[in-house]
Amino acid sequence: MEIKYSVIVAVILVPWLKVEGAPQRICFPKHFMFGVGTAAYQIEGAWNVSGKGESIWDHYTHYHPERIFDHSSADVAADSYHQLREDVRLLVELGVQHYRFSISWPRILPMGLSNDVNEDGIRYYGALIDELLAHNIEPMVTMYHFDLPQSLQDLGGWTNPIIADYFLDYARVVFDHFGDRVKVWFTFNEPLSFCHDGYGGLDAPGANSSGFEAYLCGHNVLRAHGYTYRLYQQNYSHLQRGVVGIVLDFAWCEPATTYEGDQRAAEAARQFRFGWFAHPIFSSEGDYPPIMRERIDEISRRQHFPRSRLPTFTAEEVTLIRGSSDFLGLNHYTTYLIAQGNGKIYPQPSFKTDMGVVVTQNQEWPKANSSWLRVVPWGFRRALNYIRQKYNNPPVLVTENGISLERSNRDVRRVGYLASYLSAMYAAMSDGCDVRGYTYWSFIDTFEWTSGFSERFGLYDVDYSSASRKRTPRLSASYFSKLARTRCLPDSWN
Ligand code: BGC
Repeated sequence: MEIKYSVIVAVILVPWLKVEGAPQRICFPKHFMFGVGTAAYQIEGAWNVSGKGESIWDHYTHYHPERIFDHSSADVAADSYHQLREDVRLLVELGVQHYRFSISWPRILPMGLSNDVNEDGIRYYGALIDELLAHNIEPMVTMYHFDLPQSLQDLGGWTNPIIADYFLDYARVVFDHFGDRVKVWFTFNEPLSFCHDGYGGLDAPGANSSGFEAYLCGHNVLRAHGYTYRLYQQNYSHLQRGVVGIVLDFAWCEPATTYEGDQRAAEAARQFRFGWFAHPIFSSEGDYPPIMRERIDEISRRQHFPRSRLPTFTAEEVTLIRGSSDFLGLNHYTTYLIAQGNGKIYPQPSFKTDMGVVVTQNQEWPKANSSWLRVVPWGFRRALNYIRQKYNNPPVLVTENGISLERSNRDVRRVGYLASYLSAMYAAMSDGCDVRGYTYWSFIDTFEWTSGFSERFGLYDVDYSSASRKRTPRLSASYFSKLARTRCLPDSWN
């Protein structure tokens, strides 16, 4: 076991040889890891069984069905809580090297606090981890994928600074129970999404406070992440020998034109949307990106706030957070075009005004089944190269990439998406980007947040009308399985 674990950690930490040239057949390095991903709320169901507490998404879907496209909830979803063995059987069928899933905080700590640990939650994730390891599939675990215990939301959720301490308590519980077997940890999935869309958009908890609470959320998430990373380094890493990172989403931001104002706007957008979390952790100087600091301080002043809406880290916090990630988990799906904004400042705080740009997409780029997702593989290569240049080429694990399509098992377009994005990723690796693994989103169809069950990303179809939530492989599953087994892009589709 020891030896196997050190190989996994080495794959993520030790620099590889450069990928040379552009061979005819695209083959990834021998230790490159291919896997698939999901998140607890999106697939588990069993929302209130065996002592699980309520999460903000349980609460939101139950009290605000009108905010979910098909008025659904994930009370049952794909029922993965009861289908653990079937899911692992399919992962084995796929031949993947790793499976990325998340732990539901309220399944482990029903009220969010570590004085009351739900033994059934420990049993369930322990069984899943054991089943994966028994089949040589590396568990990669996200500690927080959007489903905060509702009891902590009632205290202000991510806007209350005390949450960083509570997250640390939760982290201790998961490291204590699973750290002997889990060697790759992600603290948070997409803080941009859950802070921006949860506190300033339509996601749970539904706070309508863009440009204000969203920044408090980001601030406390970064503190919680920093504390957790240091906790692992101090108390666990010498015993458990794993790695800890964070998952950030980065849609490529391409200038809409060659005009200098648009070039500057695109860089501002990259810094607001990605640098917000990447700069404090991955830049050599740490702290918020200077452009965010300057713009938000200035606009807050002009809006007559006595202090900036973007909170300030203490010097100790800057040091705590800087360098607090062994690798970068990257979620990438699409690309946006960015143009300069009109420069107007409205009295109402908003992230959009602070960022000061106009975001669009080229209508000619092929569309997916999600309004925000268009197929732009070259944006993936650019995003990876930007990370290489800006943050000193950190090891990158692609933790999400995928496409939503109309329900069909002959998902030829998904295979095309995979082939084109994987080729772009290979090109980025040839440019020198240090990419260690790739995770397709999603393994099976999932509950797609405010889009409910209307968007399907899975390699496996889930029949939500059948009691067993029957899973059926799509064409893309057979393509992905060839890829995972050979580490080469398949040249045939069937
Ligand atoms: C999230 C997933 C989601 C996917 C597709 C990511 O933002 O991490 O939970 O299903 O995108 O929308």
